[in-house]
Amino acid sequence: MGGASEGERVKAHLCVIGAGRSGAVTAACLAQLGHRVCAVDVDQERVVTLRSGRAPFFEPGLDELISGNLNAGRLTFTSEYADAVPGAEFVLLSVDTPPRPTGEADLSSLTAAAQRIAPLLADDAVVVTRSTVPIGTNAELAKLIHVANPDATFAVVSNPEFLREGHAVDDFQRPERIVIGAAEERAGTRVAALYGTTDRPVILTDLETAELIKYAANAYLATSISFINEIANIADRFGADVGLVAEALALDRRIGGDAYLRAGIGFGGSCLPKDLRALVHTAELHGYTPTLLRAIVEVNERQPKRVLASLEEFFADLARRPIAVLGLSFKGDTFDLRSSPAVAAIHLLLAAGARVRVFDPLADQAVPAELEAQVELCPDAYTAVEGCDAVIVATDHSVFRALDLEKLRNAMRSPVFIDARNAFDPAVVAQARFVYRGIGRGSRHLE
Ligand code: NAD
Ligand code: UGA
Repeated sequence: MGGASEGERVKAHLCVIGAGRSGAVTAACLAQLGHRVCAVDVDQERVVTLRSGRAPFFEPGLDELISGNLNAGRLTFTSEYADAVPGAEFVLLSVDTPPRPTGEADLSSLTAAAQRIAPLLADDAVVVTRSTVPIGTNAELAKLIHVANPDATFAVVSNPEFLREGHAVDDFQRPERIVIGAAEERAGTRVAALYGTTDRPVILTDLETAELIKYAANAYLATSISFINEIANIADRFGADVGLVAEALALDRRIGGDAYLRAGIGFGGSCLPKDLRALVHTAELHGYTPTLLRAIVEVNERQPKRVLASLEEFFADLARRPIAVLGLSFKGDTFDLRSSPAVAAIHLLLAAGARVRVFDPLADQAVPAELEAQVELCPDAYTAVEGCDAVIVATDHSVFRALDLEKLRNAMRSPVFIDARNAFDPAVVAQARFVYRGIGRGSRHLE
């Protein structure tokens, strides 16, 4: 490991393959740094939306960056590789790497992209992998491109990305660190120069270490969440308060104030669950049994059941009971249902026979038809809770904190308030004549 030279940012011609949640942010932010960026996506509808200056998903600040850079002529979108790759000094790969049923990362989008760029690469181009890929993938990618085009002179660099949805623009512009893995140092420093950063740590290393840093970072965050959820489940046995436990832990500088110690119904999203399972798969494939990582997955998969356990305290069974769920997304102030623990909890409620009424303030974006067919989607929280026996806060959207709890209570048949994100002050909820249950906030009865 070493520090990359920090210097003046070069202005370069870039091509970003894949203009999804991470690729669109990467393309727009790199254009904002002054580079000329052409982003390629096979999804033509997505390209049309992006060309009109809008992101095809909710991400604060991104629309402005896209439209500003389109207008400045620095950013373009296409579905044609031939329009974008031949002139590019850097080709960034930001395609999806979703999980297969075994947990293994599905690299078919990445290999398809590599096959398509290979014959079009400019001399001395640098292929930069932004997608999260298993250890060893970049070395294989270099071989694949070489076989597809033996005349190509190129280098492959791993430059994993650490964006959080909902904070993606800010995370790109003020990264905690920039990680660059390369087989040859020159290619790595060329990539570092794209960022031209002088005040953020740049870690220049080999390909495999860079790949592992990305998985280790997400596995560490996931560990922290499963850890605090386990502590919360223990807290509930004794009437102890996990919020104060977390506060006390965070005061230890070795843990820190921004640690992932908010207990709830588990972590979801397109990355933490998928990357953890992919790391488990990679370890097992190479003959190592990752006992701790497996346990983190197990704790997380169990956690949505806490919602059912809370309800069982009040109701002998849930058959035909109307239950309101506030929130669908995997976390607050975003709309992404991939591996959402809120959706997992809804499926548990449905399996127990409950009639589920749902409100998510950002659900004007697409809700999958399969889910929509099984629940009643409501236009607001007050409609959702009408006649319900319980309300479950499943996502910590900040607008929920402004709800009129009295009004909510008056619309319901029974006063059961399950705060599966510990987003509310229990005393305030109780003042509105609700019976409050959080996660690890003093319910003695639960599993
Ligand atoms: P996504 O599904 O939102 O976007 C992927 C895009 O790639 C889609 O628009 C798809 O049409 C396009 N695509 C697929 N195959 C293509 C091909 N051959 N050529 C051109 N375009 C193609 O996925 P995402 O969330 O942006 O994730 C992409 C990668 O970034 C994943 O490896 C993920 O783990 C990683 N990542 C994502 C985030 C995040 O905040 N979402 C953060 C860090 C890392
Ligand atoms: C996560 C990482 O935070 C990013 O650094 C990384 O780049 C990204 O995955 C990725 O690789 O794609 P993201 O998926 O946007 O980002 O979500 P987070 O904000 O990290 O939250 C993940 C899940 O954990 C959510 O379901 C959230 O509600 C939950 N969470 C988070 C908790 O339950 N408790 C916490 O204390 C923190």
